[in-house]
Amino acid sequence: QVLSQVLPEQPDLRIIRRKITNYVGFANLPKQWHRKSIKKGFNLNILCVSQTGLGKSTLINTLFNKNIYNEENGSNIVNSTTDNLDKIKLEDDNNTISNEESAENTNTDNVSSNNGNNKHNSSNGNSESNQPNVRIESVSTIIEENGVNLRLTVVDTPGFGDSIDNTNSWEPIIKEVDSRFDQYLDAENRINRSVIEDNRIHACLYFIEPTAHFLKPLDLEFCKQIHEKCNLIPIIAKSDILTEEEIDSFKRKITKQLQEAGVKLFKPPHYELDDKETIKLTDELYNKLPFAVVGSTDLVVNGEGKQVRGRSYPWGIVEVDNANHNDFVYLRDYLVRQYLEELRERTNNELYENYRSEKLTKLGINQDNLVFKEFDPETRQKEDKQLHEAKLAKLEAEMKSVFQTKVSEKEKKLQKSEAELFARHKEMKEKLTKQLKALEEKKHQLEMSIANQMTSSPAQKKKGFLR
Ligand code: GTP
Repeated sequence: QVLSQVLPEQPDLRIIRRKITNYVGFANLPKQWHRKSIKKGFNLNILCVSQTGLGKSTLINTLFNKNIYNEENGSNIVNSTTDNLDKIKLEDDNNTISNEESAENTNTDNVSSNNGNNKHNSSNGNSESNQPNVRIESVSTIIEENGVNLRLTVVDTPGFGDSIDNTNSWEPIIKEVDSRFDQYLDAENRINRSVIEDNRIHACLYFIEPTAHFLKPLDLEFCKQIHEKCNLIPIIAKSDILTEEEIDSFKRKITKQLQEAGVKLFKPPHYELDDKETIKLTDELYNKLPFAVVGSTDLVVNGEGKQVRGRSYPWGIVEVDNANHNDFVYLRDYLVRQYLEELRERTNNELYENYRSEKLTKLGINQDNLVFKEFDPETRQKEDKQLHEAKLAKLEAEMKSVFQTKVSEKEKKLQKSEAELFARHKEMKEKLTKQLKALEEKKHQLEMSIANQMTSSPAQKKKGFLR
């Protein structure tokens, strides 16, 4: 629409398709693309949101067939807050993490090195009593399969849903997602844009407790808050504790609740070249949401005498990779095997784009003209300046508020010590007045007794003296 406004009308524009007779070479493009992708590797950032103990670590380890949470296996653990996120940089070659500005980073308490893995610990910044007690931690590792490298980052949210009062407990998580978008936006606005690290969240796995009833208000609220920022994939955790009928009815209830709340889940796209069968399979996969999964990396022997990953019970075996037993294989298809690239594309083209345009609009930059502005250095400079000024204003406001808080704290302290001094002074004064009164009383009595002695007879004086 914008283009048609700018370009002159094309009279009788006709596209003529010609077949070339000799070999030019662009049929080789997919191979070039393939080579380049293998060399570059892929990355996937997953946000896992779950109450404690719903089997999140087990499921992630099962999905990637690796003990992701075990540092000794080459994983890097970064405990980060939204504040220090942009200061943390993953280094490509030796699979370590460095903190470029650790000296300046006041949130980082200590940096220790262990078995070649660097571990960063930092406070969650949520120590104030009115803040939700949710921490953000991330684990990064590189997984290799048939020469293809995948840099996997799992962002964990310990503490979510574990308090008695979970009001606003999604806030630190939303902040984290936004700050990752901001970090990307910042990188895009730099002069050197050749290496932009993509730390944006590509998928959010939301673990639902297998209650077989309904979604809890917290589940619904979280899904409402996150669905426009991440590709949301809800899963029913530990589904082996439910019967097939319970799972079916639970899934129906969840889907209905999410639909009524207007929550959009990640839906794989249909392509022009897709045949009917592919479209049907894609839709069937989507209709299986929320996936009712079982996780386990333990090997058990099934009825056919084969060793499989599963969970063994007195009544039988639940096989993880068996689609008749649970939806684990569908989840893996959704997340890794079939739609990893679609998840990344939607993150970039739709979710990040919406965030970016909303942010720029808030800063007063007109989005409609942005396509053309990008090529105008002056406009670009203006945009950068506006962004920079907005950042400075934010920083200034934050500094002002910190200053005011400190001043008011100091004032309160001074007032308190003044009141204490005053009270002590008053107490001392009262004590001294009492002492003075007592002394005066004594003096008076003494004067009285002397006067009495002076006025009495000599015999009485003598008597009194003898006495
Ligand atoms: P936190 O890290 O404490 O939040 O726990 P988590 O959510 O990572 O759970 P974890 O993977 O440590 O699993 C907790 C317990 O649940 C362990 O005893 C697992 O063996 C068990 N568990 C994990 N997945 C499943 C499952 O699919 N079904 C059943 N029945 N148990 C499971």
